[in-house]
Order: sequence, then C-alpha cells, then structure tokens
Amino acid sequence: MPTLGFLKKKRTREEKTDPSSSQPTSPVTPITPTISQSFDSQLTHTPTQTTAASSVSHTRTTSSQNHPGSQDAKAPASAGGSQSMNTVAQPQQQQQPPFGIQPTPSPGQVGTPQSLPSINNLIHPPQTDGAGHHGASQQAPPQNQQQHGQATSDTRVTKGKYSLNDFDILRTLGTGSFGRVHLVQSKHNQRFYAVKVLKKAQVVKMKQVEHTNDERRMLGEVKHPFLITLWGTFQDSKNLYMVMDFVEGGELFSLLRKSGRFPNPVAKFYAAEVTLALEYLHAKHIIYRDLKPENLLLDRHGHLKITDFGFAKRVPDKTWTLCGTPDYLAPEVVSNKGYNKSVDWWSLGILIYEMLYGYTPFWDSGSPMKIYENILRGKVKYPQYVHPDAQDLLERLITHDLTKRLGNLYGGSQDVKNHPWFAEVTWDRLSRKDIDAPYTPPVKAGAGDASQFDRYPEETEKYGQGGHDELGHMFVDF
Ligand SMILES: Nc1ncnc2c1ncn2[C@@H]1O[C@H](COP(=O)(O)OP(=O)(O)OP(=O)(O)O)[C@@H](O)[C@H]1O
Ligand SMILES: [Mg+2]
Repeated sequence: MPTLGFLKKKRTREEKTDPSSSQPTSPVTPITPTISQSFDSQLTHTPTQTTAASSVSHTRTTSSQNHPGSQDAKAPASAGGSQSMNTVAQPQQQQQPPFGIQPTPSPGQVGTPQSLPSINNLIHPPQTDGAGHHGASQQAPPQNQQQHGQATSDTRVTKGKYSLNDFDILRTLGTGSFGRVHLVQSKHNQRFYAVKVLKKAQVVKMKQVEHTNDERRMLGEVKHPFLITLWGTFQDSKNLYMVMDFVEGGELFSLLRKSGRFPNPVAKFYAAEVTLALEYLHAKHIIYRDLKPENLLLDRHGHLKITDFGFAKRVPDKTWTLCGTPDYLAPEVVSNKGYNKSVDWWSLGILIYEMLYGYTPFWDSGSPMKIYENILRGKVKYPQYVHPDAQDLLERLITHDLTKRLGNLYGGSQDVKNHPWFAEVTWDRLSRKDIDAPYTPPVKAGAGDASQFDRYPEETEKYGQGGHDELGHMFVDF
C-alpha cells in the first residue's frame, strides 16, 4: 500500500457533502430529473439552494510515484515524442491557433445557436438526421472519423514557435500541484487561450519530469471532440508553458458541488461523453489515469472537454506507477500490481458514483490512507435512490475482479456502451455533439469570459525572467 510520503498533488477545492448527511428522500441538488425542463434554468437560477447544510471541507490528494522497476521509468514508445516541433495541434471546431492562422472553419460552429438545453433528445433521440436542427449536427465528418474508438492517424502540423511575448497573461483559471493555468490573450489574433505554466524546479523536485514530458507528448497525439486541444508549448529559464484552448464553462466539479448530485440523465450524459473519450484514448493505447470532475471542463455549450494529461501515458502493456487521485484509484494501482486501461474504467465508475450520489464511494474523512484501505476492502454502499440500471453498471465497473470489470473484457468499451443504463444514448450523434447538453454554462460576456472559474490569488512571480536555465535539457520537447 502506498504511504503518505508518495503523495504529490493536493485537491484543495473540495466542498464535500458528508455521505452520511445525504438523504435519499431529500436530495441536496437543485436539479431534479424532470426530462421536460431546461436544466439550465434550474441550475442557474437557483444557486442559493445548492449547498448542503452539512458540507465539510476536505482535501482530495493526487499522488504519483514511480515504483522501482516501473515501466514508466523507460522512455515511452511514442509516435509524436521524437519530433522537435513545439506546436502540436490541428484546428478543431471553434478553435484557432494563437497566431492568426485560420483553420478551416467547420460549419455550424460560432454563430450557430445551440438548441435550448434539454435532455429530451437523450431520452428520446431524434430520428431524423438532424439537418438544420443543430449546428453541431453539421460537424459530423471530422468527428465521425473517431467513432467507436478508431484511432486516426493525425498529421501534426508545425505552425511556428510561440513565446511569452505572443500573449497577454490574464487571470488565473486554476491551480494544480505542479503549476497554474492562466487565461491569456493572443496579441496576434486577440483570441483567448489557456496557458498551463509549470515551474521546472517544482516538476523536477516532485519527480514529474517524465510525466510532464508525457503530458505534452500525449496531448500532441490526440484529437477528439471531448479532449482539450494543445496548440503548442514553449519554455523559458524557469517555466514550461502549454498553450491550450480556453474552455469557458468551468469545471464539472464546480457544477457538481453546486448541484449536490446530478439527476440520472444528467450523470448519464456526462458519463457517456467521458466513455467516448476513454474509448478513443484506449484505442491509441493511452491510459488517462486522472479522471475526476476537476479535470472535466464544460465548453460554452455544455459539452465536456477533458483537460490535464499530466498522468496520461502510452501503455500498450502494463505499468506500475502509483498516480491519480486517491478517491479514484483502482485497487490494482493501490496494491502495486501492474495495471493497464482497466484503471480508467474503474475511475469512470467512481465518477458516475460521485455524480449520482454527490460523494465518492471510498471517501473517508479525507484521509488518503483510509481511502486506500476502503478501496482494497472494496465494499461499496449503494443507497437506494439511484436507478437500478445505474447501480448495475457501477457494480460492474467498481469491481476488483478484472475478469468481470466492464471495459476490460473482450468487448472492450463496447460492453460499457451496450450497458442498459446507456440504452437510450445514440452514440454516433453524441460523438458529433448532436445531443444537447443538459446544462449550458452562463458564459454571457462572450469570448474571454472566465466568470465560471473560481478566483485564485494571482502569481506574484513575473514570468519570462532570464537567467541560467539549468533544467531545460530535461524538457527538450517544449
Ligand atoms: N484549457 C483550459 N481551459 C480552462 N481552464 C483550464 C484549462 N486547463 C486547465 N484549466 C483549469 O486549471 C485547473 C488546473 O489544471 P490542470 O488540472 O491541468 O493542472 P494540474 O497541476 O495537473 O492540476 P492537479 O494537480 O490539481 O490535477 C483545471 O482543474 C481547470 O480548472
Ligand atoms: Mg488537474
């Protein structure tokens, strides 16, 4: 079992509902599973009802540790890693590179209004092809290539080097153990981006050099509607910088804490989008390893974007590294057994559980060691108020038995998608974002509106300082 000394990352933004306070008959959530109503209005107009009376604060901690003999210690086989280019992304919908290079605009994006937020079509999928119905429906071709987890061979395009001078650094959007994410504005095209800044000394001190290089490499290799786009990276003598799309709608974490817990169809919608993203990553032999609501961002229409590839890694076979967030760790990680993609399916189970119940199944007074013990014990309580199909899926995901865990069986991700809980999900439409999200974030001030993100004390250290760069050789891809 890992010791506390292994812990590296802190989860500090948690306002947690004490499991014992959660009354099945009096949900703390302001959203109710009424399929005919707009969740948007329920969520945005009743913010004062959102905090559970008996909320307690605790810290969720993310850990990372290379075990001796870990395969993570080897240089990973990577298609993109050997390239010396430092710009990586291809244009995706609603996205533009920070230099005024124009990607081919995809039809039906900016300026095409989404339908009113509703989960109706999740429950009753539209039967037509949707032509003229949703803007998103016209975006089919690019995303269709990735349906059913088929990995595409993305051609990487170099668009030139970025530097700090290309951006005005604006407010902080989020902080993590290894760095801080800023809203920035390109001086070239005036568009907004998110730049993750990691202090090299901190990365080295926390033995995260390989994970950080992997983060950059894995992000450079993926292109999927539910994954963040990395446009490029650069470094100065002190810091590493990763230029990503700014995802305006905030963290799913914030929405979940405001709501207490999600109604069945709402949890199902987010779980389904995550399932497609995992399916895609796994088809590329990438395990994600840090699934949690803090790393799930909502775009302006309410669709998910998974960010934070800090633990993502190409693992065709097995790996041993202890990393992730304690609440979300699979037992095979905790017990130092080799593991593979199976851990992401376990984490999906924890995520669905947290969305439906408002707390994680193994949470225990915030102590990682107690959480680990609970995970190894493996007893999960299922209060009666979730749908039986949901409970059945949870039991099949949150299981120690790897020969029974859904996603890890012969049918792979298809087994998860075919589970009765997802019966009404039309996967191809979902992959085209042709199913309306249950909640549209109130991003009212247009581009650059960061109102959905918590405020953080700003960084006092000025970026871009000169000086001797003694660690740069460890991050040559940046
Ligand atoms: N592209 C983005 N657009 C908007 N906000 C973002 C973006 N990427 C990250 N963030 C915000 O910054 C936070 C921290 O980013 P990230 O998770 O990548 O850092 P981290 O150091 O790995 O964090 P942690 O250690 O807490 O997992 C995210 O939880 C999110 O709120
Ligand atoms: Mg994170």
